[in-house]
Amino acid sequence: MTDLIENIIPEKIPKHIAIIMDGNGRWANEKGQDRLFGHVSGVESVRETVKTGIELGVSYLTLYAFSTENWKRPKEEVDGIMDLLITSIANEIEEFNKNGVRLLTIGEINDLPKQCAKSLNNAIELTKENSKLTLILALNYSSKWEINQALKKIAFAVKKDDIAISEITEELIHQYLFTNSIPDPELLIRTGGEYRISNFLLWQIAYSELYFTEIQWPDFRRENLVLAIIEYQNRERRFGMLSSQIAL
Ligand code: FPP
Repeated sequence: MTDLIENIIPEKIPKHIAIIMDGNGRWANEKGQDRLFGHVSGVESVRETVKTGIELGVSYLTLYAFSTENWKRPKEEVDGIMDLLITSIANEIEEFNKNGVRLLTIGEINDLPKQCAKSLNNAIELTKENSKLTLILALNYSSKWEINQALKKIAFAVKKDDIAISEITEELIHQYLFTNSIPDPELLIRTGGEYRISNFLLWQIAYSELYFTEIQWPDFRRENLVLAIIEYQNRERRFGMLSSQIAL
């Protein structure tokens, strides 16, 4: 059997893939299990996606792991996700270092439970020299909030005369986002059969290709990522231009 991967064009691998990992709860409920079982199972999909990303030469992978809206979920589920993060991060550090994975986060990490923030900051420090793939976990993250805090900082800098209004360009705004050291994603994937962006990277996905799949996150495997990349490679990215101009 030929591997699907042979259909991938190596020169057109997206440098940055962002994923909205959805469907954990429904996947677990369909199996008569509680929602947390879905999140625990989703960690294996995270592992496989990181591994496949490295294999294909993806440089940045951003995963939407916990939004600011997710705090509204039952306490039991929120506590479970936080505990899962602490144990998963601790378990993965060795593997990250072996495979060249650098961990970063976007979102208000310091408002997470103390132990969780500590474990993340520790993993960020221990993996900071790695350079194969940067894994960015969006945690306690909301895009509108990110843009709001950027606007406040820019307004403050203008008020102090550090920035002139004429200097507020797209590049400058990018500097004030959590993602200031990261290129925008070329491909955004959402699993779980919902067709929404859910307050994720609104500024950064202006020209990203969007890929939605019915697959629930705990079922997302290597071949699903490969299929998404193949579809991405078959799309024409025009950035507002005409096909004839792209071909030039
Ligand atoms: C969305 O599914 C999933 C989450 C809000 C949490 C995702 C967290 C993990 C997979 C664990 C992360 C671990 C690491 C190491 C990054 P949902 O609960 O919204 O599912 P539903 O739509 O079926 O209810």
